[in-house]
Amino acid sequence: MTVAALTEPEIKAIRHSGEILAQAMHDVVDAVRRGVVVTLELDAIAEQAIRQRQGKPAFKGYRGYPRALCVSINDEVVHGIPQKNKQIKLGDTVGLDLGVVYDGMYTDMATTIAVAGSAEQRRLLAVTRAALQAGLRQVRVGAFTGDIGAAVQQQVESQRYNVVRDLVGHGVGRGIHEEPSIPNFGKPGTGSQLQAGTAIAVEPMVTAGGFAVTIDDDGWTVRTADGSLAAHEERTVLVTATGYELLTKPLWAES
Ligand code: MF3
Ligand code: CO
Repeated sequence: MTVAALTEPEIKAIRHSGEILAQAMHDVVDAVRRGVVVTLELDAIAEQAIRQRQGKPAFKGYRGYPRALCVSINDEVVHGIPQKNKQIKLGDTVGLDLGVVYDGMYTDMATTIAVAGSAEQRRLLAVTRAALQAGLRQVRVGAFTGDIGAAVQQQVESQRYNVVRDLVGHGVGRGIHEEPSIPNFGKPGTGSQLQAGTAIAVEPMVTAGGFAVTIDDDGWTVRTADGSLAAHEERTVLVTATGYELLTKPLWAES
């Protein structure tokens, strides 16, 4: 089964959803850079930034997830849960993942920043962003999900890092997780073909060590099995004949 193309009104709504999300993510990145360290405060900033723009947080209540924002620190890959007593320390690698629903249309975005990061941390972030771009360059109507995965994998492994296998990118639009799934590894010409007028979330998850991950007792926090640093970037894009329209455009300086 494939997802039906978005209608013109749905495309208008998903564009707006993506704008709200990019602005809210900007507010969260800004808060981290200003020195907000309590992850639960970041969650409140994220939720307020979404609601003041007439959106709703997409993650809160999704399969029982309790917050608007995911904050994944250092060896945490994704789905770290903000807590009152969970704080960012100087030198941490901080993954931020946020979703918005506006007028029934979902968008999904993540970025990873390091406050006073080391050269090795900055290299991991740069490789993860390069992998995102390599994956996005494959996006167009008729491209295979395996084209994206292969491009991401090749970019990451050429730098002797690894891609997480157990979590994938995905279609997005009328729901947060739709078909197709978009692995960050694979072979060109395999998987399913991207359809015109659909949206997808491309989201490389990269580790400085091995690709195996574990899930904490909280049922959510995914972390590297070997304790290595991880980074995550995610954008929602609309698939077009010649490429894609970026629906969640970063509004901050990516340093
Ligand atoms: N961006 C995350 C993903 O695609 C969304 C997680 S929803 C949550 O996996 F509720 F699990 F946080
Ligand atoms: Co996602």
